[in-house]
Formats: sequence, structure tokens, C-alpha cells
Amino acid sequence: MAAIEARGITKRFDGGGGAAVDGIDLASTDGEFLVLLGPSGCGKTTLLRMIGGLEPPTAGDILIGGRVVTDLPPRARHIAMVFQSYALYPHMTVFNNIAFPLQAAKLPKETQKQKVGWASGILGIDHLLDRKPRQLSGGQRQRVALARALVREPNVFLLDEPLSNLDAQRRASARDELQQFQRRVGTTTLYVTHDQVEAMGMGDRIAVMDQGRIRQVGTPLEIYDDPADTFVATFLGSPPMNLIPDGASGLLFGFRPEHFVPASDATGDDAVRFPFHVHRTEYLGAERLLYGAVGETRTIARFPANADLPIHVGATSEFAVRRRDLKRFDRETGLRRDQIRGIG
Ligand SMILES: Nc1ncnc2c1ncn2[C@@H]1O[C@H](COP(=O)(O)OP(=O)(O)O)[C@@H](O)[C@H]1O
Ligand SMILES: [Mg+2]
Repeated sequence: MAAIEARGITKRFDGGGGAAVDGIDLASTDGEFLVLLGPSGCGKTTLLRMIGGLEPPTAGDILIGGRVVTDLPPRARHIAMVFQSYALYPHMTVFNNIAFPLQAAKLPKETQKQKVGWASGILGIDHLLDRKPRQLSGGQRQRVALARALVREPNVFLLDEPLSNLDAQRRASARDELQQFQRRVGTTTLYVTHDQVEAMGMGDRIAVMDQGRIRQVGTPLEIYDDPADTFVATFLGSPPMNLIPDGASGLLFGFRPEHFVPASDATGDDAVRFPFHVHRTEYLGAERLLYGAVGETRTIARFPANADLPIHVGATSEFAVRRRDLKRFDRETGLRRDQIRGIG
């Protein structure tokens, strides 16, 4: 096992405009499941490839287990990478696919068998060893790729959107399996995704990335409850955090859709009241969304489906948000400005 660290890592591609990865400092702890979350094109894969040794950084250092590995080739880093495309060998059985790195390392046949048995047991694919990849489901293929990574007993797993070509249902169970598997083996894992639900559900911590930079690192709860800026506030959560401009002070007031309370339930001055004009409601089984506006700003509220609400579509009702649920952001920079007290 080993912690991963990036120190001032930068990548500029030849001919490219700005930096794909722009001076990132990021450290995992040993055994951690750290998720790198960000929109497509923000530099996640580039960062992962530099950690894995597939891409030389323009500046900065990579450390694995406290040792600088920046100039070491991938095989000397004792890492295992699984990418979106698993690249299994189609003509080989599952057994041979998993054993491939062991055969390449010329390990004795008996050791190969033991290790393949161990890895395929952990991943629940020991009954599939005689099959060819085309006889497997997407989820099973993904597990074969993981088993092949696991037999090398790496210090670190680097996973780049490994679940993105599974359908939604398989993805949920694969997420669960992958997380349980990581807990069992305890291998430090850096997991790349653009899917905030995946990040929230799987990560010990999440590093939120945008335009080559890390915006915030924290536990899923910290990131959700205490976003450092408007990018993080709106990238996590679906529907996203509401951001309502306050004309007087150059601030944006942020609050989550689930933090709406009917004004009648908000007494005293621990809550801020405001009029909410409801355009449309939407039932989603367990919950109900209200689409509307606060002043000129499109705003969404979320309630349990059975909540008895004082609303009419097309009309304005009074709602409130508790002060502790209200975040303040600088309108210009998007950064949190919670030191400023008083509202509107
Ligand atoms: N080999 C490359 N040559 C030039 N530009 C690249 C190369 N690889 C990635 N990029 C650019 O770097 C940026 C980050 O890409 P990438 O790391 O793949 O993002 P992500 O994985 O977050 O979607 C993008 O603008 C992309 O076009
Ligand atoms: Mg990518």
C-alpha cells in the first residue's frame, strides 16, 4: 500500500492553449478511496496518466509511498490502471487474460494459478475462467480487467471512469461491488469520474476539478454542505444548489432545493423569508420538485412527495430558508464569502 501525491503538477500539450493540468497539489492517504471529479475535458485523465507514468509532466513531481517517481517508467511504480476501455484480449480465456501479467513476469504456473484463483474469487468471477471476453456481460468484463490489475498486487489503483460503459442499473451494483472490493484489499485508489452521484457514493474524499485545477478536496458531506465556490456548489447535487443574486451587496445566496421550508414552519429570526413563484411541479416517486422563480432567478425546491404544501401552480407563496443552510458567495469570483453577515 502507498499514498499518492502530486506536487505542483502541470501539463501543457504542444500547440495547446492553456495548461491541461495547472499546478495541482493533491495527496491521498494510504488506503484511501479518493475520487477525482470534474466535467469532461477538465484534465482528469491527463492527471491520472501522469501519476501512472504514461505522460511526462511539464512541471512538478509525483510521489508514491513518499518516493519521488516522476522519472520512473510505469512498471517501476507498482500501480495498476483500469481505463474505460478494458482492452481484454479477445482470443484469450478469462484465466489467461487475468494471468497475462504473471506470464509476462514468468512466474511459476502454480503461483499463477493461485493468484488468478485468489483475484477471481475476490471479484466473484471464478466460475467464468474458461470463457472468452465476448461471452461476458459488460460488468463481468470490467471485473476481469480489475482482476488482471489485482493479480499484480499493486500499491495503488488508478481507475479512469471504469464503469462508464455499463448501463445505469449495472453501474449501481458495480459501484457497490467495486467499493466493497477496495475496502477488502485496502489498496489506495484514485478513481476518476465526471458523475457526481458516483463520486458522492464511493469516495472517502472527493477532489473536485475544473479547468486543470482542484477547486476543493473534502469528504462527500463537506463538499456537499460546504462548497468552496459556486462551481462546486452547482456541480454536486441534482438539482443543483440555487444561487440567488443580491443586488445590494454583490453576493449570491446559495441554498439547496431540499432546504426550502414553508414560511409557516419557519418562526423567529433563524430563517429568511422570501416569495417563491411556482411555474411547474414534478413528481419523482419519493419526492416532488417545484420549478419556479425567486425574483428573476430560476429556482428549484425539493420536498417529500407527500408534503402538504401551500402552493398553487402559477401563484406566489412565501417560503423560507434557515440561516444555517444559507451560503454566501462572491458574485464576481464565485468564492465563499460567509464571513459577511446580514442578508439583503
Ligand atoms: N494528447 C493530447 N494532446 C493535446 N491535448 C490533449 C491531449 N490529451 C488531452 N488533451 C487536452 O487536455 C485537456 C484535458 O483532457 P483530459 O485530461 O482528457 O480531460 P478529462 O479526462 O477530464 O475529460 C482537454 O482540453 C484535452 O483536449
Ligand atoms: Mg478522461
